[in-house]
Amino acid sequence: MVELKTPSVGVGQTALFVAWMRQLESERPDALFRDPLAATMLSVLAQDPALADVAEVIKQTHRSAAGFPTYFAVRTRFFDDEVISATRQGIRQVVTLAAGVDGRTVRLDLPAGTRWFEVDLPEMTPFKDALIERSGLALACERRGVAADLREDWQARLRAAGFDPSQPTAWLVEGLLMYLTDAAGDAILAGVGELSAPGSRLMLEHLKAAMLEEEGRPVRERVEEQGASWLSARDDLVSWMGSHGWSARVYAGDDPRIGHGRTVAPLPACWLASGVLAGTAGNPAGAAGRPEGGAGSPAG
Ligand SMILES: C[S@@+](CC[C@H](N)C(=O)[O-])C[C@H]1O[C@@H](n2cnc3c(N)ncnc32)[C@H](O)[C@@H]1O
Repeated sequence: MVELKTPSVGVGQTALFVAWMRQLESERPDALFRDPLAATMLSVLAQDPALADVAEVIKQTHRSAAGFPTYFAVRTRFFDDEVISATRQGIRQVVTLAAGVDGRTVRLDLPAGTRWFEVDLPEMTPFKDALIERSGLALACERRGVAADLREDWQARLRAAGFDPSQPTAWLVEGLLMYLTDAAGDAILAGVGELSAPGSRLMLEHLKAAMLEEEGRPVRERVEEQGASWLSARDDLVSWMGSHGWSARVYAGDDPRIGHGRTVAPLPACWLASGVLAGTAGNPAGAAGRPEGGAGSPAG
């Protein structure tokens, strides 16, 4: 059996937490998606005595933050729909930056020829590879795990793994930017831009700025209990993504238009964004930059 060495500390563990949220959603009769990889991950946690602490932190966090599961369900479904939409427009190359134990490569209905790169830290990538192998689940695409620190030379590692910058790419950055500094987030968007052919799409999540203020303190403390810290938040996603060449639609995480009938609790408060390279297929120049988040959405 393949060895599973679970990410031990900090932000790596937040990925396990999010997967657990996806498992909770998967159990609902009206689930917005079903993620079988999350179930495998939970059975691994349950069987490994070394992971009892991790499992306990996850449980405590859930008890004290009841709004989390719905937000993560809506977020997951939003990005599912955006990735599927990208493939329907002909994109066959997908890159997730900070993939964690996201199960999309085994659960989405993807067209033949889709190649999906999952970048994460060197301690997470082998865990994810082993988890997929242990699950026995069939891949929905050609999947390549890429071990890289997104604050360093991840572009070279992505290229070395076979990424083709001449092909349009769907980029997904979910649950990452808040754990990096503003400067690191800027560098990531610059790096994504350098590797993006016309027609590429960029989907990302970011925290609302208020989450770094008093309003966000209860959730911040839960995150810190997992050994992670929020370092960045911003309300200017339309202009920020625009300054990197992306024309974005931005929704508040609790926007009913993306909620599929679910009511998302006020915390955690995040933005969900999807952009295309300005002036390329699917987003004619001139339609750019209009926030769609309604009241409280980011000012362009
Ligand atoms: C909250 S999890 C999100 C995982 C996944 N996107 C999801 O939504 O389930 C954060 C992920 O970011 C990864 N991460 C954090 N800092 C990173 C860095 N500097 N380079 C690469 N990955 C990083 C962690 O290992 C973890 O898998």
